[in-house]
Amino acid sequence: MAFSVISSRALVGVAAPAVQVEVHLANGLPQFNLVGLPDKEVRESRERVRAALSNCGFRFPSRRVTVNLAPADLPKQSSRFDLPIALGILAASGQLDERALPLHEFAGELALSGALRPVRGAFPMAVAVGRAGRKFVLPADCAEQGALAGGTEIIAARHLMEVCRHLSGEQPLASVPAQAACPAAPAYPDMADVRGQQRARRALEIAAAGGHHVLMTGPPGSGKSMLAARFPGICPPMEETEAMEAAAIQSASTEGFCTDHWRRRPFRQPHHAATVAAMAGGGARSAPGEASLAHGGVLHLDEMAEFTRSVLEVLREPLETGVITVSRAARKVTYPARFQLVGTMNPCPCGFLGHPSGRCHCSPEQVARYLNRISGPLMDRIDLMLDVPPQPARVVQQDPCGESSEAVRLRVALAARRQQERQGCLNGRLPVEGLFRHGMLDDTGRALLARAADRFSLSARAVHRVLRVARTVADLRADACVSGDALAEALGYRCRHCAEA
Ligand SMILES: Nc1ncnc2c1ncn2[C@@H]1O[C@H](COP(=O)(O)OP(=O)(O)O)[C@@H](O)[C@H]1O
Ligand SMILES: [Mg+2]
Repeated sequence: MAFSVISSRALVGVAAPAVQVEVHLANGLPQFNLVGLPDKEVRESRERVRAALSNCGFRFPSRRVTVNLAPADLPKQSSRFDLPIALGILAASGQLDERALPLHEFAGELALSGALRPVRGAFPMAVAVGRAGRKFVLPADCAEQGALAGGTEIIAARHLMEVCRHLSGEQPLASVPAQAACPAAPAYPDMADVRGQQRARRALEIAAAGGHHVLMTGPPGSGKSMLAARFPGICPPMEETEAMEAAAIQSASTEGFCTDHWRRRPFRQPHHAATVAAMAGGGARSAPGEASLAHGGVLHLDEMAEFTRSVLEVLREPLETGVITVSRAARKVTYPARFQLVGTMNPCPCGFLGHPSGRCHCSPEQVARYLNRISGPLMDRIDLMLDVPPQPARVVQQDPCGESSEAVRLRVALAARRQQERQGCLNGRLPVEGLFRHGMLDDTGRALLARAADRFSLSARAVHRVLRVARTVADLRADACVSGDALAEALGYRCRHCAEA
């Protein structure tokens, strides 16, 4: 038979839909055609496949070779189809035993020598192949990543010849052991390094426990960046689905996924000069952007007021829905983008407003304009706002180290579990209806909230934010109801710059 079909995978966002690589050999002038909307890279694969086959001692059929990648309307960028195309040609020309082919799927780039090079998206492809009940042959350099998918049997190969010998049964390749159970190394800097800053530490503990977005304001050198970098280390452990999604996004990105990062919360720190495309994703491959790469982890916007408005605005969609849509030409790709926002900024253009040195000469208008760079709708999503004053020199030099991240994380994880059991999500993501159902103010709490709403003329949104944070304070104490104390603490983290709060 001069026809063969090999199974492989495309990559659309973090999904890996099936692609059939069909090869047909017909009589006629020797030709090698690739159809099925292949882009430039796939066309180049023609040359690689031809060279690899001849360098491995196979005969390139001197017939009319047609390769079709189906379905035709999927984006099929990348060189991952080299290996399935080469195998399809070998099978169609009778140079490869085809019996084992239907049990496997394949992806891999070929070097001209026939050696296999790693491909992007090994993790999401492996998850999809496992669901289809097949084994997945991958280049050895990205096989470990595929093995994290757990349920899928991954076969690592270094060379086209190894794949052929495996398929013929001559020299079967062993499957790669699943790595999914490997423990995540605690790889974040430790809170114990931070001296003083009790209030900021407490605020970050609440933010981590309730999944609240947070904004820290303070003069340069007060330790904002230091605190932000330690934030992921006090967050509760990553859940399985979150870890799978984060791995899939990273695996589909241009940076790729490092298996050491399995179950480790991402910490992304885009520069304030970042473009909309860098933040949201896009480019020739519709690659995920910073907002998606931070999925399941922390998006730290340092000098938040310095970001262009359009870049901050693209964060509204993910903050509201947990996903971000990347459009390119006629195609739309949706990536998960549920991150925790940690913003840090100076209090005014010079940075020294309120500094004990009194060196700030910014006018009130300048200060207002500076703070207004972050739009109201974005501010509305940030439950916790706090000032981070510089610590006195004696505190930074002498104080003993504070609590370790590990100790904080234990309390945070317990509080997070209480929320999950009660309402199925963290307080930071609790919709307003849920907030009133589960908020459960006791009498002192209710009285205080009524008084505060009056006195500070709190808007409805501001009340919701205060209630969310107060609920988390109560969860950290394992209190069923939200007391006046919890509410008073939450009121202290409301935004004092915003007109409405
Ligand atoms: N509370 C603190 N405890 C220990 N070191 C601190 C503290 N505050 C500031 N520092 C030191 O000052 C440096 C600058 O802090 P940084 O986090 O970059 O400040 P910011 O981001 O607010 O400008 C840190 O790297 C750290 O060495
Ligand atoms: Mg900084």
